[in-house]
Amino acid sequence: MNMSFYKLVAAMLLTAYANVVYAEPNELVFGKKLYLTIGGYGCAACHGKYANGAGNVGGNIRGASIEQLNHALENEPTMQLLGDALAPEQRGLIVQYLASLGAMPLVEWSIGEDTDIKTQQLIPKQLSQLVVKNDTLVAIAMDLSPLAINQTLHIEPLDTQAVQFVAPAFSVSLQVNGQALQLLVNE
Ligand code: HEC
Repeated sequence: MNMSFYKLVAAMLLTAYANVVYAEPNELVFGKKLYLTIGGYGCAACHGKYANGAGNVGGNIRGASIEQLNHALENEPTMQLLGDALAPEQRGLIVQYLASLGAMPLVEWSIGEDTDIKTQQLIPKQLSQLVVKNDTLVAIAMDLSPLAINQTLHIEPLDTQAVQFVAPAFSVSLQVNGQALQLLVNE
């Protein structure tokens, strides 16, 4: 057997376990834009850039229903101003976007100054979302190849970035700046 055969097999194995970058349907793009910009500061100011709460006053609202949103817009003093700004159709788009986030198990990682090892549980084969906060004052670049993504995640100081991936069936580890996130799968 010659080299090209092995190359072919290697290529097939890589494709079998390579995460594709998912294109978002239009309604999710519009919902996301509203989520980030409504009222100038967006829902993100109080619920986190990916609706994950991220330590902000509003908390995690991934997967929130239209009833929960309407109720909050009417009763939550800090949200009442947004109530007038959001037509029913726009509320629907935001809820669709929140549902798409709610469908993905959330893996959160905050990168600070200290060397540290953290662990999180993965649900194998589930489309999941990794949300990484850069809590340092220097930009970081994280190699995503352990998640079978042929890409580097760049995060500016104090910014948060996310990436979607299909969780592998085995445990993997991500590393950056002497810190590690171990993603565990019950085997
Ligand atoms: C100025 C801050 C602020 C902004 C902006 C804001 N929220 Fe809230 N939101 C809150 C607070 C505070 C709560 C109550 C949290 C609690 O009780 O734990 C809340 C509650 C909610 C709830 C109810 C959660 C539940 O458990 O029932 C939903 C849904 C929600 N917000 C969605 C949104 C959406 C969508 C936007 C953007 C259109 C938004 N919020 C903008 C502060 C904010």
